[in-house]
Amino acid sequence: MKVWAISNQKGGVGKTTTAVSLAGLLAEKGQRVLLVDLDPHGSMTSYFGFDPEEPAAATTYHFFEMTSSATRDQVLACVQPTAVKGMSIVQSSTALATLERQMVGKSGMGLKVSQALALIANDFDYVLIDSPPILGVLMINALAACHTLLVPVQTEFLAIKGLERMLRTCEMVLKSQKKSFDYLIIPTMFDRRTHASTASLRELRNTYPEAIWAAMVPVDTRFRDASQAGVPISVFDANTRGTEAYRSLLKHLISAKKSAV
Ligand SMILES: Nc1ncnc2c1ncn2[C@@H]1O[C@H](COP(=O)(O)OP(=O)(O)O)[C@@H](O)[C@H]1O
Ligand SMILES: [Mg+2]
Repeated sequence: MKVWAISNQKGGVGKTTTAVSLAGLLAEKGQRVLLVDLDPHGSMTSYFGFDPEEPAAATTYHFFEMTSSATRDQVLACVQPTAVKGMSIVQSSTALATLERQMVGKSGMGLKVSQALALIANDFDYVLIDSPPILGVLMINALAACHTLLVPVQTEFLAIKGLERMLRTCEMVLKSQKKSFDYLIIPTMFDRRTHASTASLRELRNTYPEAIWAAMVPVDTRFRDASQAGVPISVFDANTRGTEAYRSLLKHLISAKKSAV
């Protein structure tokens, strides 16, 4: 089982879209995919027609209540099928927002998601974790659980602001867990007609030559249509440029060259 976390401390940069789009393409390839919604806003949960304010089943919140004697069945009880074949989700609950305060000073809380996922390691091929735009205990759990961190960055003015600090914090967290820091920056919502997009893409490439994906995800109105329809963009429109972009990102992520992923 490979675990990818999608994080950025900024909202509206394409985190949820990246998680859902990659998951859709993996499911299309016949992989067993689990989406894990760690964002208390639950936009990924809503995407698939569930309600994070009134979750119909156990949610990611339950991962944090599990003890060391938790079982595979307990974790699987949190997993819901989506309308897409091969793609399941652990829903978010707005109650997740209360965790930050509850967990202050409690030890071992950073590994809850990773411990829960370990119990279902044979049930899924890929897990994609959507994390909230806050550097707190939820994001630390996402980092601890993942093999690779994907960082969508919107190509617009000030895109890079705050990014360096977030990446250094992630690096510190991972080093404290004796994990290597394997991350990929994904430029998103690129509009080649605007100066803001081209200038910020250039700045990202100059600043992170090693860590940036060579292509980018363009602006594509099909993303909004797909989210309204509650399906990944590839299901909605297999050939639109947004689908093509995520297809080539996925190819990069699973290519032999990036064997660490
Ligand atoms: N490449 C894109 N082109 C056009 N709209 C996009 C693109 N990526 C995301 N969006 C839209 O932008 C909004 C924010 O994206 P989202 O993935 O929810 O961001 P985040 O999870 O980082 O808050 C959503 O309405 C989404 O449909
Ligand atoms: Mg989101």
